[in-house]
Amino acid sequence: MWGAIDQEKPIAVLLGGLSAEREVSLRTGEAVLNSLKRQGYAAFSIDAGRDLPSRLTWQQCSRVFIALHGRYGEDGSVQGLLETMQLPYTGSGVLASSMAMDKVVTKKLLLYHRLPTPVFAELSRADIEQDRLSDCPPLPVVVKPVREGSTIGISLVHQKSQLPAALAAALGHDDRVLVEEFIAGREVTVAVLDGEALPVIEVVPKSGFYDYQAKYTAGCTEYLLPAPLEQPLYHALQQAAVAVFHILGCSGAARVDFMVRDGQFYCLEANTIPGMTETSLLPKAAAAAGLSFDQLVERILAGCGLNK
Ligand SMILES: Nc1ncnc2c1ncn2[C@@H]1O[C@H](COP(=O)(O)OP(=O)(O)OP(=O)(O)O)[C@@H](O)[C@H]1O
Ligand SMILES: [Mg+2]
Repeated sequence: MWGAIDQEKPIAVLLGGLSAEREVSLRTGEAVLNSLKRQGYAAFSIDAGRDLPSRLTWQQCSRVFIALHGRYGEDGSVQGLLETMQLPYTGSGVLASSMAMDKVVTKKLLLYHRLPTPVFAELSRADIEQDRLSDCPPLPVVVKPVREGSTIGISLVHQKSQLPAALAAALGHDDRVLVEEFIAGREVTVAVLDGEALPVIEVVPKSGFYDYQAKYTAGCTEYLLPAPLEQPLYHALQQAAVAVFHILGCSGAARVDFMVRDGQFYCLEANTIPGMTETSLLPKAAAAAGLSFDQLVERILAGCGLNK
């Protein structure tokens, strides 16, 4: 449902914020703000700290473009605040945002809908402290915080001796840890815009691991667009990404990440506020579909609303 948009007031772009992905969000937010201004919109940015409610009260705006990543931004909490304040905002609503932020909830929903996802176990801080690790899949595994992004706190574990450090690294970011079967294969991502899949991208990090540096340093990763996959697999990935978008109840833009091994795909997770930095995947996929960065920003802005 649309809130009444007061066109006289400017658009607030929320950026920065309180999460570990703050630096990425500053880059996404700046790119979005520049684009809005370039297109003639009155817009200003707000660094979304603990004082966000008072900033939104004092610096009046008509609608909010959320360019935050991670906790307190992509996880439904800021969306809840904006619902409470009746300020129309971009992207997914409260429930979709919080479900997508939680990799375990996402994976349980995928299993329920018979979409393939790597075998996994969830461990609490107490499980780890008391060495209750028996439910974990066999090595090699990937150890992740349940609610994080940009590969922060993620480790690949090939030998048992590496497990304690990996669990400690993940616990540094969340009280809940996901231990997932390692899929030795190719990595692809599918952006979805308003329920339609954009061209599939294969990412080939030069280091072999798509970590923080590979994601945000120009030249560290090769992007194959469209991904050189057999047509049936290519279309199955696009269909799966759209299905994930609807299963989670997403709105606007989202990006769904997969691994592919032996012709079979495994869904890793969904991002409800995909990065829009100069190395980010969503703008590349949009460009391949004929949408410029400014057109992409305008499409996301057009989805501003409440009660999503
Ligand atoms: N099960 C797995 N098997 C192989 N590689 C994996 C697996 N899970 C994660 N990875 C690698 O780790 C990276 C980060 O994992 P994932 O996408 O789950 O987390 P994220 O930090 O939320 O990512 P994003 O930056 O997209 O928010 C992936 O892009 C992939 O390279
Ligand atoms: Mg990912």
